[in-house]
Amino acid sequence: MADADHEAHKAIVRFEGFWIAFSLVLLVVFVALVFHAVAMHGGQIGKAESRKPIDEILAMPEFANPDVRIRDNGRVEASVVARAFSFQPNVIEVPTDTEVTFRMTSADVIHGFQIKGTNINVELIPGEVAEVAYTFSEPGDYPLICNQYCGAAHHNMIDTVRVVDAAEFDVAPEEEPAEVDDVATWEARGERVYGNECVACHQADGSGMGTAFPPLAGHTLDLLRGEGGREYLIDVVLYGLAGPIQVDGTEYSGHMPGLARLSDEDIAAVVNYTAHAWGHEDDLPDDFVPVSPEEVVERRDRDLAPADVLELRPALD
Ligand code: CUA
Repeated sequence: MADADHEAHKAIVRFEGFWIAFSLVLLVVFVALVFHAVAMHGGQIGKAESRKPIDEILAMPEFANPDVRIRDNGRVEASVVARAFSFQPNVIEVPTDTEVTFRMTSADVIHGFQIKGTNINVELIPGEVAEVAYTFSEPGDYPLICNQYCGAAHHNMIDTVRVVDAAEFDVAPEEEPAEVDDVATWEARGERVYGNECVACHQADGSGMGTAFPPLAGHTLDLLRGEGGREYLIDVVLYGLAGPIQVDGTEYSGHMPGLARLSDEDIAAVVNYTAHAWGHEDDLPDDFVPVSPEEVVERRDRDLAPADVLELRPALD
């Protein structure tokens, strides 16, 4: 009897011993795989070198105006700000065969920063600056995607890293503010702003998305015809909007961040763009004149929250 117990106990010990050894082997294999991947494909840890309040980081010159710059020491630096649901700048142009230092931050929630075809894959945490360096050898357009779920339009958070031949690389000069009362000019500007800031949620055809982002096609005209609609549209772009709202019998409850960081010209242009796009042009009221940057100036500095803008929404039949 005692012998049988003893035998059973030995069997259990062998069984346990096997699984302990097996898990140790797995551990060694996994660690070896990590070293192998780093050795064969290269790896770097993006360092979060500064932690500060988001506003302080966004006020730093490189993030107040995210762009690709050549430093005095000849280093090429690309500063990038991620916010739901876009990256700034919209196209990041960098040279081949040159080490590019990406300095990145998030203005709202955690976003991802993954450049396809490279090993760049960084988490962008609000309140931190991440830095990673990379040298591109092949010219071309590399998709930049957000790979951290950040909200309803996360899957549309896509940007382009354009790698150009080092010989042709030239840092774009500072953009001159254009005259907005020139129709052709606000059209081009409005289309660009819409493409940078609005398209991820409201879509290129203005059809909106799901029950978070209402359609702008058709709806913008209804708002413009409503009392105070013109001012309301400017307020929505400046201060954002927090639902719920009804559009054509469907309830939308999303949260749009304000775009007050854009220039008065940009905000006027994008309101004008939505007023004219998607066939609206033909149905605009006869006395409609394009929104001017001065009208935007008049709506600024009221410190409204997105929920406050909801209260200002014109009553629609
Ligand atoms: Cu940003 Cu997903």
